Amino acid sequence: MTAGGGHEPEWWRNAVLYHVYLRSYADGDGDGVGDIRGLRERLGHVHDLGVDAVMISPWFRSPMVDGGYDISDHCDVDPLFGTLAEADALIDGAHALGLRVIIDLVANHTSTDHPWFRAAVANGAGSRQRQRYYFRDGRGPERADPPNDWISAFGGSAWSRVTEPDGSPGQWYLHLFAPEQPDVDWTSSEVRDGFVAIMRFWLDRGVDGMRVDAASALAKAPGLPDFGFRPESLFTPETWDGCPFWDTDRVHEALRLLRSVADGYQVPHPLVGEIATSSPRRFADYVRPDELHTAFIIRFAKQPWDATAFRQLVDEVLAALGAVDAPPTWMLGSHDEHRPATRFTSWFASEAGGGSGTPDAADIEVGRRRALAAALLLLALPGAACIYQGEELGLTDIPIDDRLIQDPVFRLTGGRDRGRDSARVPLPWSGRCQPYGFSTSPQTWLPQPPGLADFTVAAQEADSDSALATYRAAIEIRRSFVGTGLTWRTAPDGVLHFSRGEAMECVVNLTQQAHALHGRVLVSSDRGVHSSLPPGTAAWVDPR
Ligand code: NOJ
Repeated sequence: MTAGGGHEPEWWRNAVLYHVYLRSYADGDGDGVGDIRGLRERLGHVHDLGVDAVMISPWFRSPMVDGGYDISDHCDVDPLFGTLAEADALIDGAHALGLRVIIDLVANHTSTDHPWFRAAVANGAGSRQRQRYYFRDGRGPERADPPNDWISAFGGSAWSRVTEPDGSPGQWYLHLFAPEQPDVDWTSSEVRDGFVAIMRFWLDRGVDGMRVDAASALAKAPGLPDFGFRPESLFTPETWDGCPFWDTDRVHEALRLLRSVADGYQVPHPLVGEIATSSPRRFADYVRPDELHTAFIIRFAKQPWDATAFRQLVDEVLAALGAVDAPPTWMLGSHDEHRPATRFTSWFASEAGGGSGTPDAADIEVGRRRALAAALLLLALPGAACIYQGEELGLTDIPIDDRLIQDPVFRLTGGRDRGRDSARVPLPWSGRCQPYGFSTSPQTWLPQPPGLADFTVAAQEADSDSALATYRAAIEIRRSFVGTGLTWRTAPDGVLHFSRGEAMECVVNLTQQAHALHGRVLVSSDRGVHSSLPPGTAAWVDPR
């Protein structure tokens, strides 16, 4: 096995994960959409990065309303992505390269096309089939208002109404995401048994671990009480205390069940949580010894370019998770977030989220530079790290024309939120124009922009100063210090400086001036760094 985790029994504690968004990684069958065959053919890229595991977005049967997070059969592969046999071959192929495989466990909701949901609609109010979901009568005259004031993460009410089998306007069902993603009710033993069976189905096939999607949502407060939301309220779970559908205390019962399934195997199968809470202490509860093994630090992927903010978050996370002896899994981005090279532009900071327009070329250069420095920070922190595909190439958000946006968030917010497609554009592999080796089809499911020729994997493999070369070097060096703790060193305001053991110090310059550097440079985010670290740059040095 490779990077940080190696043969360690608890390999996930220091692992580097590579997050593949399957639709956009590589297309093996020429339809313009990434798939399992494409990933298998290009597993060498993941291997050559030196990471420990590949984490793959949902490949299950799905109408693809939310890119595969709306699942109609959890135990089969969607034809868009391939076949079950191809998934088996991918798992074997990854193992043969020393890579572990982590897949998504989407257990908060199904698709409205799932047989459970269809049966629930067909069997009417009060039926056993409806108890697998949250079906409730509406309020007000004609029961025409939703059962409570809960909001969806994708905008608007979290309730939609069904038409009953006799054609009358019927009950409402809960969906914390798109209307096509009804929430399942984890108090139902059929739901619990169903997801236990799904976990075993994949773990028995050789999958090494699971990402637990929307883990904070798996339990709702009894009685489904109002919380005081208005229809236009925004979904900001990091600010909610006592929310009846997010981070409720009973969520931990569900997670303990998942853990008991993972623990039923001879070798550990880590569960990585997608979690958002209002406090570090509540966050830590999810990774207690009998719950999830680790969790993504999503807040790290939202940090501004600010030394104080980074340091506070690192300290907070290490203290909270240290108290329960769980490792964090740091991340700079994902298929849900803005790409770091865009997030760190001045334009993004000034527009508070990148509302309109785009950064100019000079600003993008700054963003890219900072993103690579942030990658050295990410890979230097204690715990695990997750790299989202394309970060290792320095890719930025790609603006998508309104007519081509596929993310349901755009539609459901009436265009107020442009959604996440900008971070999901198909990867550039080689060549000078679209499809940049991604597919044999000139049309890709989201268009790639011109100007990516220098950002392809092939171009960066040929350049020893590229972002890709820096990532590879850092992941290799990381092996030498993974077992050590973090000690902060004295540094001027705006400079992050800490050591990991005797032989490695990480220095990140977030100021506008050069910063003096002492020691032998092991790797840096800018070429030619020796005794002085330019603004927006990071280096790892051996101080001895
Ligand atoms: C989190 C996933 O990362 C995101 O892409 C998805 O839309 C929601 N969960 C709903 O499954």
